[in-house]
Amino acid sequence: MSGLRLSPEEFDLIRNLVRKECGIAVGDEKAYLVETRLTSLVKEVGCDSFRTFYEFVSRATNREIRDRMIDAMTTNETLWFRDDGPWEILRTQLIPEFFEMLKSGSRRTIRIWSAASSTGQEPYSVAMSILQAIDDLKDPSIKDEQFEIFGTDLSPSALFVANSGRYDPMSISRGLDPASKEKFFDQVGGVHSVGERVRSRVTFKRYNLMDSFAEFGRFDLVLCRNVLIYFAPELKRDIVERIANTLHDDGCFIVGASESLQGCLHRYTMQMCEGQIYYRRKPGGEA
Ligand SMILES: C[S@@+](CC[C@H](N)C(=O)[O-])C[C@H]1O[C@@H](n2cnc3c(N)ncnc32)[C@H](O)[C@@H]1O
Repeated sequence: MSGLRLSPEEFDLIRNLVRKECGIAVGDEKAYLVETRLTSLVKEVGCDSFRTFYEFVSRATNREIRDRMIDAMTTNETLWFRDDGPWEILRTQLIPEFFEMLKSGSRRTIRIWSAASSTGQEPYSVAMSILQAIDDLKDPSIKDEQFEIFGTDLSPSALFVANSGRYDPMSISRGLDPASKEKFFDQVGGVHSVGERVRSRVTFKRYNLMDSFAEFGRFDLVLCRNVLIYFAPELKRDIVERIANTLHDDGCFIVGASESLQGCLHRYTMQMCEGQIYYRRKPGGEA
């Protein structure tokens, strides 16, 4: 059984199932990806071909294996303070605005959503940026508890790491500056754990971006970075449109550095800050 081969028909069956379950559009040239990422799971569940595996995971009762298949097909690559743009926008534009909103009483709490938070580096980086700004501001009227950050992802294994807040030396070394590491993490042996002050600002939940966002309430900022690229254009448009419904009027939306919202912009205005692009929800226009 060592040489499992994925036929073109099996490739189509499996990629259609992946698309139906999580929206990820596996390109024609990506058969190798399906083969390499799923072979060990196919063997583990005792199937002797990708077709029998497809039939097995398609059964309603095999939800758990189907979730593991989707987990294996997601790319969880992330790092601390990934790309300069969002952190520059947060520091120079958005965090000062959030402080003003709290001081003026137009908000009691600022709510931020990291949609597709993977192993947690993105929402924790947002929390560290805000907490550092609170310390720099030295205004006792602004409190940590006035910021709520939500991280959601589809991948149970990524969420497990995010929830644990524990990172090995390799993950901790990617993008984290020494001062933030010293200030916001606890170290035991080789493992760094996100400190309680940061941890308590962030809540994680498993969520599929294909599902309704109605239960989420309103956010002041949504980050949906480096995930829309995996979706077909119609699904990307639909998600971007539904994210607008989760934002307050003038609420902000940040996508990945190489992603564009071309063709999805009717609910947003494009903004520039320090040469970086972000988006604001146009007032009104509820879907
Ligand atoms: C490349 S990571 C991006 C992480 C982070 N936003 C960043 O930019 O560093 C993409 C994440 O999207 C998640 N994902 C893929 N499809 C999803 C879906 N339908 N719903 C929710 N999350 C999804 C994957 O599990 C993965 O963790």
